[in-house]
Amino acid sequence: MGFFCCVGKSNKNNPADADKAKPSLNVNKKKNWISKDDQLSLDVKNLNLKEDGKGNCKRAQTFTFAELAAATRNFRPDCCLGEGGFGKVYKGQLDRINQDLAIKQLDRNGLQGIREFVVEVLTLSLADHPNLVNLIGFCAEGDQRLLGYEYMPLGSLENHLHDLPCGRRALDWNTRMKIAAGAARGLEYLHDKMKPPVIYRDLKCSNILLGEGYHPKLSDFGLAKVGPSGDKTHVSTRVMGTYGYCAPEYAMTGQLTFKSDIYSFGVVLLEIITGRKAIDQTKPAKQQNLVAWARPLFKDRKNFPQMIDPLLQGQYPVRGSYQAIAIAVMCLQEQPNLRPVIADVVTALNYLASQKYDPGIHPVQGSRRIPS
Ligand SMILES: Nc1ncnc2c1ncn2[C@@H]1O[C@H](COP(=O)(O)OP(=O)(O)OP(=O)(O)O)[C@@H](O)[C@H]1O
Ligand SMILES: [Mg+2]
Repeated sequence: MGFFCCVGKSNKNNPADADKAKPSLNVNKKKNWISKDDQLSLDVKNLNLKEDGKGNCKRAQTFTFAELAAATRNFRPDCCLGEGGFGKVYKGQLDRINQDLAIKQLDRNGLQGIREFVVEVLTLSLADHPNLVNLIGFCAEGDQRLLGYEYMPLGSLENHLHDLPCGRRALDWNTRMKIAAGAARGLEYLHDKMKPPVIYRDLKCSNILLGEGYHPKLSDFGLAKVGPSGDKTHVSTRVMGTYGYCAPEYAMTGQLTFKSDIYSFGVVLLEIITGRKAIDQTKPAKQQNLVAWARPLFKDRKNFPQMIDPLLQGQYPVRGSYQAIAIAVMCLQEQPNLRPVIADVVTALNYLASQKYDPGIHPVQGSRRIPS
């Protein structure tokens, strides 16, 4: 991934310039705000979005800035759920609809801009799937840009895999497979069911949000791209994404394919299995990049047990773990055309998620036990 550049707190590289394959917007420069009350309707017009008359375009509601400010008690710091490249995310209760929301406020000095805001609203307006987060509404008042999503009570997968706060239990094997299978189904919807098909480009653990019962939903579609059409095999874009998740050929050539998402999915699956971060600068040099650490271990099944997250304390099925690693290996092939299509990944992971592991019945793997 030689030249792949990353900046900012979210390790995302700068998306500020124009993509060739994207419809042109008149708002390329982040600072070039157009002071109109409904900037979004202007942006949408430029993107030629039309409702198809068959109910395929679900309209997000329009919120006023005042009601979102009231919902978050004026964006009080203790309502803040986290912060990413787009800006801060607050929990808020919107009385009008009597629903908890996660409200994302665009940071005007941040890494992302109106383009990501518009792509997010458009993608989620067209999409409808149980494994994609729901966009309830947005606010595009003056130069304010806010997004209101359904609130996901268990936060992101990242919060449950890495740096667990004191008292939080590690995810068990069955839950990990459930999350992997659900995330794969969300991606399958984007690749195979949406019209036009969409390349997600931002698959990573912090973008997999968890609802009740650890039901996973993909979020953050600001970088999504319409996939290649006709005879084309790829779309040419400026390289964007998150360091550690980006497919090597995309990082090197800017040629984006559905298989770039499959690679990112392989990284996420490997994080789920190993409990390690895609990039971890606190580890020794050779272990900082998860895929680089794992590749030599992939060669021999004897190495597989040492790859499994020690926090599982040996409570995982040997066969299931081998199969899960085998899926990750396929997704992480250097050659994009050797990676599986998402439908095959879904079939394999649905099967693994259906095979429930019970430590009371099945053997606990002794070698990876850690003292409690
Ligand atoms: N719908 C939601 N419900 C509950 N929490 C959320 C929701 N959306 C985001 N969050 C929380 O806010 C945090 C920040 O999310 P955000 O998507 O802005 O950044 P990120 O995914 O960490 O980084 P990036 O900007 O690179 O995608 C998440 O890690 C999650 O904990
Ligand atoms: Mg995110």
